[in-house]
Amino acid sequence: MPGLTIGDTCPNLDVETTQGKMKIHDYVGNGWVLLFSHPGDFTPVCTTELSKMAQYIPEFEKRGVKLLGLSCDDVQSHNDWTKDIEAYAPGCMVTYPIIADPNREVIKQLNMVDPDEKDSKGQHMPSRALHIVGPDKMIKLSFLYPATTGRNMDEVVRAIDSLQLATKHKIATPANWKPGEPVVISPSVTNEQAKVMFPNGYKTVELPSKKDYLRFVNV
Ligand code: BEZ
Repeated sequence: MPGLTIGDTCPNLDVETTQGKMKIHDYVGNGWVLLFSHPGDFTPVCTTELSKMAQYIPEFEKRGVKLLGLSCDDVQSHNDWTKDIEAYAPGCMVTYPIIADPNREVIKQLNMVDPDEKDSKGQHMPSRALHIVGPDKMIKLSFLYPATTGRNMDEVVRAIDSLQLATKHKIATPANWKPGEPVVISPSVTNEQAKVMFPNGYKTVELPSKKDYLRFVNV
C-alpha cells in the first residue's frame, strides 16, 4: 500500500463521482477538502457517518471546507444509498460528491485500504480514512480508523480549527483544546520573537526543567 501521509501531495486522480467525473485537484481548487472513505454502501456505521457529515455541512462551509466521500461501489449504488442516508437524518441533504471505486483502484492510491475487512467476493474494502487536504493540495492531517469504529465529526471540525489557526499564527493547539481556549507558542519561536508576535503577552508555565518552553497565549 502506498504510504500517503501528512506532507504528501494528494494524488490528482481522475475519479467518477455521484456528481460526474472530476480531477481531485480541480475539486480542491484554492480551498480545503475532507476526503473520507467508507467500507461500503448500505452498511450501518457508514450510513450514520455520511448522515452526520451532511448535518455538519454548515460547520464545514463556515470554515471554507468542501467534502468528498468515497465508498467502494458504483455511482448507481451510491445514488440509491443516498436516499437511506438522507432519511436517517431527516432534513440533511448529501450535497457533496461520493467517489465510486468498484475496482478498488482509488483506495489503493489514497492509502485507504483496510487490511482486514473483505467483502463477500473476498475483495479488500476501504478503511475509514479521512485526509484533510489544504489549498496547496497537500495532506495536512489524516485519520485512519478500522471499519468497526465510526468517526466523531466534532473531532474533525476541531482538527480543522486547529490546522487553520496554525496557518495564521506560529502556534500549536494543546491536548483537548477547543476553539477559544489558549494555545501554545511554537517551540521554533524564541522568547524575544514571542514578545513581538504576541504583544498582549503570554504565560510561561514553570516546570522542573526550567526550560520555559510551555508558553500559553490567547490568539
Ligand atoms: C459498517 O459500516 O457498519 C461496517 C462496514 C464494514 C464492516 C463493519 C461495519
